[in-house]
Amino acid sequence: MKRFSLAGPAAVVIGAMAFAGTMSLAVAQQPRGAERPQPRLSDLMQGAQVAHIKLWYAGKAGNWGLATYETKQLKARLEDAAQLYQSLPVNDVTTMAKPLDAVSAAIAAKDAREFARAYDDLTAGCNSCHRELKLGFVHLRTPASNPFSDQNFAPGKK
Ligand code: HEC
Repeated sequence: MKRFSLAGPAAVVIGAMAFAGTMSLAVAQQPRGAERPQPRLSDLMQGAQVAHIKLWYAGKAGNWGLATYETKQLKARLEDAAQLYQSLPVNDVTTMAKPLDAVSAAIAAKDAREFARAYDDLTAGCNSCHRELKLGFVHLRTPASNPFSDQNFAPGKK
């Protein structure tokens, strides 16, 4: 089966420049051999939501390593959703590539202001697909408080 990829040419260039191989979009830890049970779309979306929240707090803390990681998690969830649920409108999936690239570029540049702007566009992309599918009641926004109090978002750890 062809793997769905959200990586545009910009993402490839930025990935090569800044992350030297760490931006591979395939999820690394997949069990070998075993048939993976198909995740529910709502579970993938909840995973995307977790990554969306953590990405925000990583960027806010200037923890660019974690922000890179969460961007990758978010991409992987959306790619899996597109791959496994092919009834999702392709347009609404591919339009996510641009804001994701912009988020990655802001992270690579360690540019907090640009990160916040790109994050807004990313969130708008989530909502746009939800609206398109008559799921406008699932309305995402910039998180107002961090529910992950067991995780230290401060930068500095490698
Ligand atoms: C291509 C379309 C599409 C995009 C893009 C998209 N979603 Fe969704 N989302 C859906 C669909 C379809 C559902 C309903 C899934 C279901 O109930 O089976 C959903 C549901 C959700 C839910 C509700 C899940 C639950 O069980 O509570 C959340 C949260 C969510 N999405 C978060 C996000 C976030 C965050 C983004 C952006 C980073 C995003 N989505 C981008 C299509 C999309």
